[in-house]
Amino acid sequence: MSFLFDVNEQADLAKDLCTELNAQLGKMTLRQFPDGEYYVRCLEDVKNQDCFILCHLHQPNTKALAIIFLTETLKELGAKSVNLIAPYLAYMRQDIRFHDGEGISSRYFAKLLSQYVDSLITVDPHLHRYHSLSEIYSITATALTAVQPIAEYIRQHVNNPVVIGPDGESEQWAKSVALAANCPYEVLTKERFGDRDVKVSLPHVDNYRDHTPVLVDDIISTGKTMMQAAQHLTQAGLPTPVCVAVHAVFAAGAAEEMQAQGLTVVTCDSIPHNTNAISLATLIAQGLKSN
Ligand code: R5P
Repeated sequence: MSFLFDVNEQADLAKDLCTELNAQLGKMTLRQFPDGEYYVRCLEDVKNQDCFILCHLHQPNTKALAIIFLTETLKELGAKSVNLIAPYLAYMRQDIRFHDGEGISSRYFAKLLSQYVDSLITVDPHLHRYHSLSEIYSITATALTAVQPIAEYIRQHVNNPVVIGPDGESEQWAKSVALAANCPYEVLTKERFGDRDVKVSLPHVDNYRDHTPVLVDDIISTGKTMMQAAQHLTQAGLPTPVCVAVHAVFAAGAAEEMQAQGLTVVTCDSIPHNTNAISLATLIAQGLKSN
């Protein structure tokens, strides 16, 4: 018997994963005192059992501490292994010292988690300047990709699609998704002048006027990247695009702003959000089984 402990109440994903992995949903108490400190209590006999902790790491700072305390608790109770399922892995974007004196938080976060959990599995971490998680994680760290579930969504829901990556960094998803969905793709270029100030170049889309554009990216945060790309596409005479992202990071008000512009926004369920329409349960379960 193995146990899965669901830290963030991702109930559907947790239930599906338990079914696929033949694991039991672990009972525990994890709460915060009024001063914010965590109280952790495991209510299962985990001695000699493999344990999984399901915890997306959006807004990661307190969640990381919850993972560490739960992991230590499970290990002290004799768990055979403690394995982190983090459908969204945080702290991957600061992967270089962009300016003198900056910390490279991706490395520090990886070093921290690697000291506690035995393994990590995630979906489409932001591997831009790193080629693999093993460059910063010293534990077994598996990066799955949502390419197939996204391609399946496009095949089922979008008529005559052309996949569009809103910037160079998104090319890895756009190209693979297009290949899997058996449709063409284009990639735009992007310049960022500040957190909320992004300029996207005009694309060469003359060949695709009768297609439905599907913008694909790993993350939507402020939504500026997607909204500007969408604006250029509609100005170029294409239909309003469908915006698909793996991770629904969404800064405050971003999803509403996108929807107010008439955009259809679809995300995978790595981070719970009302735009979730693509389940990652099967992908993650298969990844865990083949580990
Ligand atoms: C960039 O590195 C990522 O791939 C996304 O393009 C980015 O995080 C999207 O950010 P925003 O929604 O704030 O434009």
